[in-house]
Parts: sequence; C-alpha cells; structure tokens
Amino acid sequence: MDDNSMANHKETEQALRFIRQQTTNQPVLGLILGSGLSALAEMVENPIHIETHDIPGYPSSTVLGHKGRLVFGTIAGKQVVFVQGRLHVYEGHDVHASTFPVRLMAALGVQKLIVTNAAGGIHPSFKPGTLMWITDHINWTYRNPRIGSPGGSIARDQITGSLYDGAWLKQARKLASHAGIATENGTYLWTLGPSYETKAEIKAFKLLGADAVGMSTVPEVIEAHAAGMKILGLSTITNFAAGLSDDHLNHEEVLEVGQRVRVDLERLVLELIKNA
Ligand code: HPA
Repeated sequence: MDDNSMANHKETEQALRFIRQQTTNQPVLGLILGSGLSALAEMVENPIHIETHDIPGYPSSTVLGHKGRLVFGTIAGKQVVFVQGRLHVYEGHDVHASTFPVRLMAALGVQKLIVTNAAGGIHPSFKPGTLMWITDHINWTYRNPRIGSPGGSIARDQITGSLYDGAWLKQARKLASHAGIATENGTYLWTLGPSYETKAEIKAFKLLGADAVGMSTVPEVIEAHAAGMKILGLSTITNFAAGLSDDHLNHEEVLEVGQRVRVDLERLVLELIKNA
C-alpha cells in the first residue's frame, strides 16, 4: 500500500471502530438517500442514529436538505444502514473522499447497496415524479474514486458491461409492477455540478444516450462495485432537464418532488428490502 491508501484504510478502520462502539448491528444492506429523500430513513425500525460529524475520519456534508447521519436498524427483520446526506464532489470533496461512506459500509459487511438520487429528466417522457431504475451510467466527469487505491485493478471494473446488478434490477421491476408503482429504465449521466446544465449540454447528453442527469451516484457505484457489492440504482426525476421546459431549475423544486414521491418510494424500498 502507498501512503495515501494506508491513510485511507486507517480512516475507515477508525470509523468502523467508533461505530462498533455505538451499535452491534450488522447491516447486510445499505441505502444511500438522495436529495429530498432523506425522510425515507424514518422507515427504519429501532433506529440508531449516528451523526457523521461524530465519526472519526468521516468527511462533512453541507448541502441544504442533507443531514449527515447514518441510520442503523431493521426493516422487515433485515439489518440495514441508511446514509442520510451523501457527500458530493461539488461540495469540494475529492472524488475519493466522497465515496468514504461506501468504504465504511463495505467494512461493516454490507453486500447489497441501493443508491437513490434526484435527477433531471432528459428522456422526453420522463416527467417530474418519474422513478427510473439506472441500467447504466455515463461518467461525464471522468473522475474515478479508485485512482491510486489498492486493488484498483483495471480488469475488475471491465468484467461486466454494467455495474448495476441485472438480476436484482429484474426482480425490482417485478416488485414495483406488483405494487402498482410505475417505473422506467434509463441511463444516468453524472455531471460535477454545482451549476445546473446548460441547454446545449442537455442537447449533447441526449445525443450521447443519457435519459437523466445528476450530480452524484456514479462515484459511489464505482467504489461499491470494486468492493464486490451488488448494486441497484434508482433516480427520482424531479424536473425536466435544462431547456426541456420553460421552468427555471432550482433546488427547492428538487426537494418538493422528493416529498411527493415519498409514499411510493417507501413502499418500493420496503418491497426491495423484504425480498433482498
Ligand atoms: N441536473 C443535475 N442534477 C439534478 C437535476 C438536474 O436537472 N435535477 C436534480 N438533480
């Protein structure tokens, strides 16, 4: 290990030791909550809340609507951990630091990860409120959290065409359909932010094959895949992407749509966890 990766390893170990002092929970499933979706953590039973700023080595989060908190507990008898307040690269975090929660979950024993986010809809039929399974992504930023990491082998990430688990996705679509919740499939494109995209960029992204655009998720998914986790990604389309409607984009709108889809999302997440 080089100096950098040794320091990273030490930080994860420190954080792990701290968490082990707070809870004996052994989560096998983790869920990262996106913008406006923080309230989903209220479905965790017998919750133990750990503020991320109390955890040694955990980078701090600052965005409106993002509480930096880990919520441990059970859902449908399964031990879970929810991450409230993900770390965005646009907050100034290095891309590697932004995936600290994923390395911590891996150290805790998490094997399955559900990653949620708020995204702008590019596909013409994706209106605000649409739920989109991420079937694949485009890393428009070219930043990768694995650079310089031990075992960050090129081969591993190239074994599969997509980092999202095909069998889990198939099951998830079935569960949604049985629950009467409409979902779509699509490709998510990651931009750095914090600026929303320009109209010209959205036009270009559409040509590239993107169905939705957002400022998160991709680094976490790369890190989680490298840790051997099974991954399911779900975007809530909170707005039409730039230039696709007359509306001005704003963060309040993103949070408001998150509230609106909450009931469906809760039902969906419950089914996913029950069947995971
Ligand atoms: N662009 C980027 N990120 C987003 C958007 C968007 O339109 N909506 C929610 N997150």
